Amino acid sequence: MCGIVGAIAGRNVVPILIEGLKRLEYRGYDSAGIAVLNGGLQRLRSTGRVVELEKIAGSLSATVGIAHTRWATHGVPSERNAHPHVSGGVSVVHNGIIENHDSMREELRGKGYKFASDTDTEVIAHLVHDHLRQGGPLFEAVRSATVELQGAYAIAVIDESDAGRIVVARHGAPLLLGLGVDENFAASDASALIQVTPRIIYLEDGDCAELSQSSLKIMDAFGNLVERRVHISQLSAASVELGQYKTFMQKEIFEQPMAVANTLEVVTSATALIPELFGARAGVIFKETNAVLILACGTSYHAGMVARYWLESLAGLPCNVEIASEYRYRESVSNPRCLVVTISQSGETADTLAALNFAKARGQENSLAICNVPESALIRSSDLRFLTRAGPEIGVASTKAFTTQLASLVLLAMVLAKVRGRLGKQWESEMLNSLRHLPAALTRVLGTEPQIVRWAECLAPHRHALFLGRGVHWPIAMEGALKLKEISYIHAEAYAAGELKHGPLALVDQDMPVFAIAPNDELLEKLKSNLQEVSARGGRLFVLADQDARLSEGSGTDVIRMPDHAGMLSPILHTIPLQMLAYHAAILRGNDVDKPRNLAKSVTVE
Ligand code: F6R
Repeated sequence: MCGIVGAIAGRNVVPILIEGLKRLEYRGYDSAGIAVLNGGLQRLRSTGRVVELEKIAGSLSATVGIAHTRWATHGVPSERNAHPHVSGGVSVVHNGIIENHDSMREELRGKGYKFASDTDTEVIAHLVHDHLRQGGPLFEAVRSATVELQGAYAIAVIDESDAGRIVVARHGAPLLLGLGVDENFAASDASALIQVTPRIIYLEDGDCAELSQSSLKIMDAFGNLVERRVHISQLSAASVELGQYKTFMQKEIFEQPMAVANTLEVVTSATALIPELFGARAGVIFKETNAVLILACGTSYHAGMVARYWLESLAGLPCNVEIASEYRYRESVSNPRCLVVTISQSGETADTLAALNFAKARGQENSLAICNVPESALIRSSDLRFLTRAGPEIGVASTKAFTTQLASLVLLAMVLAKVRGRLGKQWESEMLNSLRHLPAALTRVLGTEPQIVRWAECLAPHRHALFLGRGVHWPIAMEGALKLKEISYIHAEAYAAGELKHGPLALVDQDMPVFAIAPNDELLEKLKSNLQEVSARGGRLFVLADQDARLSEGSGTDVIRMPDHAGMLSPILHTIPLQMLAYHAAILRGNDVDKPRNLAKSVTVE
């Protein structure tokens, strides 16, 4: 979603701001802009890519500035709606949504302010301006303005009458500060500052901060001046650059063996599992857990759907998996002994955060976050945490985050099973052994790419596709369909294969490619009958099968043999071919796989 960069230095900050915006491009955006103070306020905006903005910025030079990539929520993507927004000499960039913007707009109009855009952000610019003209410094004006704002925001503000500072504030949307040597920065994401500093301060909700070239002041929501911990960001430039790959999605698909190995590193040399892998209080919390509620969105929700099978069969715990945006508005029955598990790549997804708060407000206090970003809001809001160590995921379509989430969730199911006396020593060591072999098995599955490319060539001309799976592989079929929709724009539906004859079979004909996940498990024979139903209607079948699945190729049926049968870990392996299928279909259709239309990475608004 939207991205913010701000910089104040003794040198020209324009290249720093532009580079920061480029590093935020992966979040998805439809316009970009920059405002600097160099004698007066200068603003440039563009509906093109950041490189277009860079071109028009030409020889612009200044030591103070703010910049933004916008993902439209209020008002169509256009130059007039692009940030920064201005009011007199005040300029503002904003991530989030101001919910009371309508009433504030009316109030500000009453005071004589004219609006030049359709955005909620413009009210912030006028509001800060209004407070400034009542006297006092920019810092106070921003603080007073934020008191009147309802909704979520991260903002950065500059004022031409005071070129020595940038004021920032956050509530419900991420914002961090970067500390340089005699220069300071702000950004919505640490990757935007990778080229200038690894020293990062994550602002807390309600914080307002003032940055000058050589000083920093942070005030919390209660008006106290506070010091916040400085973190050294572990992000390396290589981790957010393409290297030998053509796209980030391709890079991230191929990074999965390493990402899963990194995530499982905590257990690779272990002989036994301990609850403390999930945090200091996990032993106590897991003992009292009698049910699990998983909250997540999109791909992370699919990881939760897979985990339900593991948690119920291994740990014997009833598990409910809910789409976060639905759960938060639903009258559900709460259970104080339920462990609330949130799953999120970014840890900043607004719906997941809100669902967690909602679950807690209903007396479900025990929470565990499975997340890829160590300092994210989700991690900070949870009692227990497990970090997926996938590294930065830049492609909008989630790939390595998903498989590392699955690896983490297997561990969770195993630990909970052990705490509940359901995991014998022998089984524990066999499972640990399989986890150790998982990265190598993933590498072997990546080797099926040439066969997958041929499937993608058959799929790419079609407008629709069906994905089938049974049991724990049904959510993998859902993830395959989601990946395909997102990046190839081919309409895809996933069904539990047994559901086919209850409706979707009506769609099947020679124009409907059907992809099936058919490992040699206890449901294989049932699945084969479902596949017969497809063949009998002339549907073209593409089947991912194990070596010994006794499924043969024939007219209208293509089979790719999976190199390994991974037992319980099979869903993790079957994810990879479906990711590659979506990837190659999208490439064949000429799409930008890293930045699919209309989508954003890290959905920080409702
Ligand atoms: C799909 C995708 C999204 C995210 C969803 C949740 O490829 O990336 O569906 O999974 O927006 O995001 P996180 O995991 O950051 O909470």
